[in-house]
Amino acid sequence: MSDTTGAVPLPNIAILISGTGSNLQAFIDACECGELRATIRIVISNTPDAKGLQRAAEAGIATRAIDHRDYDSREIFDAALGSALQEYDIDLVILAGFMRILTPVFIEPYLGQLLNIHPSLLPKYPGLHTHQRALDARDKEAGVTVHFVTPELDSGPAIIQAKVAIQSDDSAESLAARVLVLEHKIYPLAAQWFLQGRLQLTNNGASLDGELVPESGVPYP
Ligand code: GRF
Repeated sequence: MSDTTGAVPLPNIAILISGTGSNLQAFIDACECGELRATIRIVISNTPDAKGLQRAAEAGIATRAIDHRDYDSREIFDAALGSALQEYDIDLVILAGFMRILTPVFIEPYLGQLLNIHPSLLPKYPGLHTHQRALDARDKEAGVTVHFVTPELDSGPAIIQAKVAIQSDDSAESLAARVLVLEHKIYPLAAQWFLQGRLQLTNNGASLDGELVPESGVPYP
């Protein structure tokens, strides 16, 4: 569909955050430079003082805080989140450091349109403290995975994965910093694939350009 100027409107994304919002910033930058052909319609945080909300406001993007502490259960919080998003015509929902476990109340209506980034080489280390766990296990490499969200925590089909070599003097912080650089590259890329219609969630896993994506995601680069 086109508007009166004949321009085809860009697809709309919503970004959910809880903290610093460096991945959100990567999306803002990717939209500004045209690498990601999308409009960020709304940024929602479950923590009202999240730094990412300032980043969004500075970029002129609508923001909203929906504080999970104001809700009696995860399901009621998720319903509030879902109805906030319904005010916008959202094509893709991006979880970018959103630190709440979502229930099917939120996930099911957006199944196949909901992406997360997890700082580990999934299926290794779902959950928290991923970099420390990789160091404790004396792994040789660490990394990050973008995946479709399904009701099982950090277990939806992988889309893209980037690795870094672990150095002998790495701390969880130094490792996280190197991984974050890659997060900012692969997450907008996965979103662009989705919005171009190249990427889908199927019953067998993620599909990119009609091919089933390997279990650990497309390797990046
Ligand atoms: C990132 O490491 C992301 O992978 C994880 O939470 C962190 C969020 O960082 N889920 P930021 O808020 O995007 O800077």
